[in-house]
Amino acid sequence: MRLSAPAKINLHLRVGQVQNDGFHPLLSWMTTVGLFDTITLEDAPSGIALTCDDPRIPIDATNLIVRAAQLMSEVAQQHKARPFRAGAGSGLQLNLAKRIPAGGGLGGGSSDAARILLALNQFWNLGQMIEQLALLAAKLGSDVPFFLFGPSSICQSRGEIVQPIAVSKTRFATLVLPDIAMPTPRVYQVFDSLGSGKAQADLGQPAWQEWTSLNAEALLPRLINDLEAPAFAISPQLGRLRNDIEQSLGRIVRMSGSGSTLFTLFDDLASAQRAAESVTRNGTRAIEVEIGITPDDDLEQSWIADA
Ligand code: C5P
Repeated sequence: MRLSAPAKINLHLRVGQVQNDGFHPLLSWMTTVGLFDTITLEDAPSGIALTCDDPRIPIDATNLIVRAAQLMSEVAQQHKARPFRAGAGSGLQLNLAKRIPAGGGLGGGSSDAARILLALNQFWNLGQMIEQLALLAAKLGSDVPFFLFGPSSICQSRGEIVQPIAVSKTRFATLVLPDIAMPTPRVYQVFDSLGSGKAQADLGQPAWQEWTSLNAEALLPRLINDLEAPAFAISPQLGRLRNDIEQSLGRIVRMSGSGSTLFTLFDDLASAQRAAESVTRNGTRAIEVEIGITPDDDLEQSWIADA
């Protein structure tokens, strides 16, 4: 079985004051983008093994792919009455071709994990309901539930409340991929130390339906990412890069998630491509992508239809 796991960007990300559990209430419009990790799944006699073409990625149980597979394996044990596929062993060999940069705020590990939950439900014939998969996803990480429901959703609370909405009319983005890995927990700590969440009891509730119908020029000025200030405090180099690119492209540039990926939006592919070429010429890797992408892979159902 071959799986294609898309990256995401947070078009809009508001963050509230830290709660007693150490997490922050979120309000985010997330959308998939056309940059993919590829995972292959094969039967194995026993155990769960992962290989990856990028030696920097851990392949042990700290990898969300392995953790997702372990959770589904536990579900399989509990449902002994339900057979695995005829002739299959009880083990799994997973191979990951890593293309989504780690520490980039693009949700690569979360997307991989969500795809594994959906795939093993099918591959092992486990018959798990949406609600059960969503619970497992939330256990794995704040961004994982979104990837069950893509390609465009409003995510709230810690990220586990997911409301699918229309894909943005603005269909293209230039992603700037600096060689900087941002540590997410540290970005939230600095957010707290800046006192940013205190002023934000109300994260707002934009007119999402209207926002989805805006072109790039109208949408960009409405977008906010509350994690930019702490991320740029941790990496002033990233803050400078954002300012430089805004100046050279003459348009608003936002950060995705806790960084380090920066993005701007376009209504046509050719403009996104020209911007990517211009940023790359100035020394930082950049690519053009389509927004709101649904991957073409071996899953019978790419997304769960309804939250
Ligand atoms: O859930 P996830 O593993 O992606 O979160 C990584 C870290 O980001 C958490 O350990 C926490 O420090 C921070 N976080 C947060 N509030 C959220 C989501 C994440 O403080 N809503």
